Amino acid sequence: MIPLMKNAFLNEVETKKALADFILNAPRLSMDIKCLEFEKKFSLFQKRKEAILFNSGGSANLAIMQALKNLGRLKDKDKVGFSALTWSTNVMPILQLGFEPVAVDCSVKTLNVMVESLDRVHKKEKLKAFFLTNVLGLVGDLNLIKEYCEKENIILIEDNCEALGTEIPSGKAGNFSVASSFSFFVAHHMSTIEGGMVCTDDTELAIMLRIVRANGWDRNLTSHQQIDIRRKYDISNEFEAKYTFYDLGYNLRPTEITGFLGTYQLQFLDENIKTREKNFLHFEEIIKTNPDFLPVEHSHISLLSSFAIPIVCKTPELREKYIAQFTGGGIEIRPMIAGNIQRQPFYHKYVKNRMELPETEFLHFNSFYCGNYPELTEIEIEAISSCLTNY
Ligand SMILES: Cc1ncc(COP(=O)(O)O)c(C=O)c1O
Repeated sequence: MIPLMKNAFLNEVETKKALADFILNAPRLSMDIKCLEFEKKFSLFQKRKEAILFNSGGSANLAIMQALKNLGRLKDKDKVGFSALTWSTNVMPILQLGFEPVAVDCSVKTLNVMVESLDRVHKKEKLKAFFLTNVLGLVGDLNLIKEYCEKENIILIEDNCEALGTEIPSGKAGNFSVASSFSFFVAHHMSTIEGGMVCTDDTELAIMLRIVRANGWDRNLTSHQQIDIRRKYDISNEFEAKYTFYDLGYNLRPTEITGFLGTYQLQFLDENIKTREKNFLHFEEIIKTNPDFLPVEHSHISLLSSFAIPIVCKTPELREKYIAQFTGGGIEIRPMIAGNIQRQPFYHKYVKNRMELPETEFLHFNSFYCGNYPELTEIEIEAISSCLTNY
């Protein structure tokens, strides 16, 4: 069996030993200095001013939407576009917080939203925000989407949970928006078991994200930020401040284990991304020679931090054939994320407004993916390659 992902951690044995040691000696395990250290290191890695650590990527997505609402940048019933090919907890906060979700079609060529389909939707629906997903480590025309959103006054948010490390010449995926989310769940590029991050250059938003993350209080703000918010709300002493709750929030806090693991795993990330890209290019060579497949376009990407290997077949019948080939070969596979999300039961239950999504619909029925990670052995790479062959 070749699973979607083998290990919880990069350099698994060494990391588990270091983790055991950390737990034995740490003075405190709830959110503290290790989380701050990881946030600092991650913001340097990502080249963003602020990084705010969460207990999952889904929590990071929820917190972004709540923070934008608390700040009044998004209001009840505002229309929020999103990539039709995405994960459930990208779309669910749009619904949970009273906005109207509008699906935007993803291209068969890049698996991602391209500016033309965003434009088509925006002309009709007048979006207030667009929650873009960078799918499986690939990206669409991020420069054009950013420019378009600036021109049209659309708040651009990136779900970068599947594209940590991917770069185009003008910057890293996750840096084209007001805020971007990351996931450190086990099957992702690096893992803290469960965990997530939000990156932003917007200090006002970062302050609100820290308030949203922990109960609506100000305890995780800097002392200057605390002075400002306490002055604004006339909170005159520390005793009162301890239990003052300024805006709507949750408990989405990570633990020191998250902070420790993130800091530790970050040192192996660059190497891991290189191997993922190398594997991707190897499998792509085989995909390109097989007329049953449509290769994915990525010539605009300068560093491809592949999350998984997408396999796009020309017809649903061919997909059946290759699913059988992979399953028979003992290779774990998945549908193309949530497929056309408009087909999901939760979407049917809560959303009336359906969009035409011809390309996402094609991907729904014609594609799937298998894992790509640095621990794949030569023999396993060979086994996957052989399943990609037209027999
Ligand atoms: C695009 C995307 N967004 C969000 C998430 C949620 O991340 P988590 O599992 O850390 O909550 C995932 C999970 O795989 C994802 O693929």
